[in-house]
Amino acid sequence: MKICCLGAGYVGGPTMAMIAYQCPDITVTVADINETRINAWNSDDLPVFEPGLDEVVKVARGRNLFFTTDKMKAIKEADIVFVSVGTPTKTYGAGAGKAADLKYIELCARDIAEVSEGPKIIVEKSTLPVRTAQGLKTVLEANSRPGIEFQVLSNPEFLAEGTAVEDLRNPDRVLIGGDEDSEAGREAIATLVSVYAKWIQPERIITTNLWSSELSKLVANAFLAQRISSINSISALCERTEANVDQVAFAIGKDSRIGPKFLKASVGFGGSCFQKDILNLVYLCGHFGLPEVADYWEQVIIMNDWQKSRFSQKIVSTLFNTVNGKRIAMFGFAFKKDTNDTRETAAMYVGRDLLDEQAVLAIHDPKVSTQQIFKDLKESETDAEGKPNSQIEICPDPYVAAKGAHGLAVMTEWDSFKDLDFKRIYDGMLKPAFVFDGRNILDHAKLREIGFEVYAIGKK
Ligand code: UDX
Ligand code: ADP
Repeated sequence: MKICCLGAGYVGGPTMAMIAYQCPDITVTVADINETRINAWNSDDLPVFEPGLDEVVKVARGRNLFFTTDKMKAIKEADIVFVSVGTPTKTYGAGAGKAADLKYIELCARDIAEVSEGPKIIVEKSTLPVRTAQGLKTVLEANSRPGIEFQVLSNPEFLAEGTAVEDLRNPDRVLIGGDEDSEAGREAIATLVSVYAKWIQPERIITTNLWSSELSKLVANAFLAQRISSINSISALCERTEANVDQVAFAIGKDSRIGPKFLKASVGFGGSCFQKDILNLVYLCGHFGLPEVADYWEQVIIMNDWQKSRFSQKIVSTLFNTVNGKRIAMFGFAFKKDTNDTRETAAMYVGRDLLDEQAVLAIHDPKVSTQQIFKDLKESETDAEGKPNSQIEICPDPYVAAKGAHGLAVMTEWDSFKDLDFKRIYDGMLKPAFVFDGRNILDHAKLREIGFEVYAIGKK
């Protein structure tokens, strides 16, 4: 069997690497139009940082895992084509700011139709609005050679970044949606099930109709994000009362009906999925004439935006209502630990707010590149005369970032931050030295003992 995957991003790359790793008898080719990305996948410096990914790629690459820019050849030879290209939120026209932009998906469908010489199974891996499979099928059928049959399946990916390899190796479930009403549809579902069954227990492989599968992905992300917005809303109330949000989360999480996960109050959720998928859900509800449902889910985003801006305002108000010219050390820029991904990271929004307030940012992140940080902050590294940006300094050393700073803001929960020598950091900072722990990961009592003024999310 031959598999091809269009799109070598955070989802396509690791997912295909795991399939190839687990199924030595299947040839897996990942194709992307971005040559730099493909070159990186073929090098020792993979474009995606994920714990454990290097080892998986090393075993399979060159054996039965290949990365290429020749997408047409890869499609032509494949029995199964996964489509794992980006589906960003539309920035133009109808649905701008909410609906998913499906142009990359449609282009893939046209490529597949053009080169296919025989039947293929097309698998939607990207998160898509409900009923996209229908559109995909229509484009495929309208553009392909006569007599060629395509079966479209939905197989949304539930991996979380930072734990992608573990999530792929041992997923809670694999979801496969297809045309359950036809013989060919059931056969296609069975074929994809047989791939995953090589390493995943059968009871974890769920099959549904197409629309349930497409919608489940949006709903899973909406529910997860809703829990974070719920606890973040309570964090604000905790700050006004004498309650402690971590204690509240622990207490309610002990109820087995609620459970302990995704109740960590924070500076706000980020990542490529939560906001995009909820906006997509909101758009769909509006489209199908359900404004009350749309408003209900939109509130999850509104609460998240508020949480981010509340954090930047807290920094400004605590630093005596001005951060003009003040150095603020930002620890962490990625949207969560153990990834170099910064899409929708809270650090970007807080950073931009602080830059608007004329602060000087000293940013330290163990994995995010300097270029990426400048891009996210919409700033250039040098001014017109070639001098370094005077408002932003990227610091590979956290102690250098904190030196001379008025405040230190923890933006990402990297484990390495917990082990830093905070006495040394304190000695290097201006006094009073403020810590704003946007992730509640530091030992606040100890910090206060050293002399820090500490602000933590959801704590008085
Ligand atoms: C998410 C889903 O978890 C995954 O199933 C889906 O396939 C893609 O979207 P991801 O965005 O990679 O995965 O990371 P996730 O661990 O869900 O975290 C998302 C954001 O929420 C991060 O910014 C994280 O820091 C934040 N978060 C998470 C909290 O603020 N509190 C929590 O309790 C959990
Ligand atoms: P995700 O997080 O969903 O994996 P990414 O943005 O990381 O999203 O990856 C999507 C990838 O898809 C990008 O590397 C992009 O270059 C690639 N891509 C977009 N359109 C096509 C296409 N028509 N054929 C192949 N790859 C494509």
